Amino acid sequence: MGIAWRDDLAIGVELIDNQHKELMGRFDMLLTACRDGKGGDELRHLVTFLNDYVISHFRDEEALQRKTGFPDYESHRQEHEAFVARLKELKQRIDEDGEVLVDHVLDTNKMLLDWLIKHISVRDRAIGRHINKTS
Ligand SMILES: [Fe+2]
Repeated sequence: MGIAWRDDLAIGVELIDNQHKELMGRFDMLLTACRDGKGGDELRHLVTFLNDYVISHFRDEEALQRKTGFPDYESHRQEHEAFVARLKELKQRIDEDGEVLVDHVLDTNKMLLDWLIKHISVRDRAIGRHINKTS
């Protein structure tokens, strides 16, 4: 199973859509690495990458929401915050355990899949609908 971008995930703002493509591409890399038995190595790269990338992506997305008067801004922002907290917790667990374990890889896969299904394909698409309606 691979993760691929679909045009119906687009919210119609190039900056955000490109960031979502990048995130999904990274997730796909993790899945591929898992398939090849290299999930642990890839997870280390991914966690470091996500730490910075997700924060600037959320900042851009939230700025867009404020600019366009998106009505669900607050609850959306809270979902972002919860994701950052989960990511931080995962990084901490890896640091504490001193190595990447199968558990970490499985939890990350679940976390990212959840994010893709519940957030990008539902909550973020609502931003696109809002922008289309108001522009
Ligand atoms: Fe979002």
